[in-house]
Amino acid sequence: MDTKPIPAINQEHQVDRLLVEKALDLLEASRVPRDEPVPLKDGLELTETMPESGMEASQVLEQMASGVLETSAQLHHPGFMAHMDPPTPSVAWTAALWQAALNQNLLHPDVAPKARLLSERVVTWIAPFFGMGGGHFVPGSTISNLTALWAARELKGVKKVAASKMAHLSVRKAADILGLEYQAMETDRQHRWTPDADSDWNDTAVFLTAGTVATGAIDALNPMPKAPWIHIDAAWAGPMRFSHQHASRLAGIETADSVGFSAHKWMYQPKGAALILFKEAESAHQAMSYGGGYLSAPNIGLIGSAPASALPLAATLLHWGREGLAEHIDSDMAKAERLKNLVDEHPDFELWGPSQTGIVVWKHKTIPASEVRSRLKQAWVSLTDIEGDMWLRSVAANPGADPEFVFQKVLEATKPC
Ligand SMILES: Cc1ncc(COP(=O)(O)O)c(C=O)c1O
Repeated sequence: MDTKPIPAINQEHQVDRLLVEKALDLLEASRVPRDEPVPLKDGLELTETMPESGMEASQVLEQMASGVLETSAQLHHPGFMAHMDPPTPSVAWTAALWQAALNQNLLHPDVAPKARLLSERVVTWIAPFFGMGGGHFVPGSTISNLTALWAARELKGVKKVAASKMAHLSVRKAADILGLEYQAMETDRQHRWTPDADSDWNDTAVFLTAGTVATGAIDALNPMPKAPWIHIDAAWAGPMRFSHQHASRLAGIETADSVGFSAHKWMYQPKGAALILFKEAESAHQAMSYGGGYLSAPNIGLIGSAPASALPLAATLLHWGREGLAEHIDSDMAKAERLKNLVDEHPDFELWGPSQTGIVVWKHKTIPASEVRSRLKQAWVSLTDIEGDMWLRSVAANPGADPEFVFQKVLEATKPC
């Protein structure tokens, strides 16, 4: 019999407080203070091939810090109003640390006994704000859109999907995967599609967007046309439903058959957290429910093994409550309004159109947006292509953003050097 002792590789799976402290120290050190410029650094230095032997864990963190932490976008910085990617509150990412350490799998009740319950409870908290009966977590709104159209095909036999030409590319992907014919519909000048109430939508899922990726436009949600299935892609703007002040901008959403939105956008969550909600959740879930020999509970939807992404969101909602979340949305909306006014009041700049969902699209009247963006050297504004014309796009997803700072920096980038 082999009596050799088993090497202590399992030590790696204990809670290593010193390592966690080291990770926190490095994280903290990489944060650029509010009033300092964000340094531009080169990328990650890694060998071409997998290392043959390993190195000490704290050394690994030190080596990776320069490539990962110090070159990362400073999403919390006052200048950052560029993308739909918020900084995450500490309560969310510390809960995500638990999630990563526990590695529960929602697929198996015995591996995630209470995490499944927690996910269901968070859905129960959220669904009523959208007039929906239930739903489930998915990793992003690409999957929400695919799941919604899958349900529409299974339950209502839809053969086509009609969406505005400004809809996110994920709807085309979903149509291709599901074998649905895709119809791109014209919008008005403000990028809003109003589905024709008199058209025959008999075999067509009507796909509406609440907050387009280019300009944040909201399709006409009220009244809805008569169609076998109506899905609302509220990936970005969905969380406005939690705001007393702004919920009514999405009035009509509650009459849809399904709604999807990304919690990792305007609910300030780490990536991988989105929801697909259904009016009739039970029948939708039944239509996409699979059981296998090794599963003790049916697997609902597209995703197999799944992390408990509801955990950081539950922690955030317990910490902020609905009021705290609404306060964040309202504050972001006020920042977008402030930036819009600064642009509007300056004779050298112009606005593309209205700012409905915390997104401001603007440009200098003579210097091309791409030139301004490259002179800025910082990812403080993004670019959006509108019918072949480039504009600057500012997204208010950063509670620490300072619209005056952003405007000033862009203004400086338009001056001769
Ligand atoms: C309107 C809209 N729909 C869908 C998506 C896709 O979401 P995700 O990147 O979470 O898959 C996005 C992403 O920006 C979006 O803005």
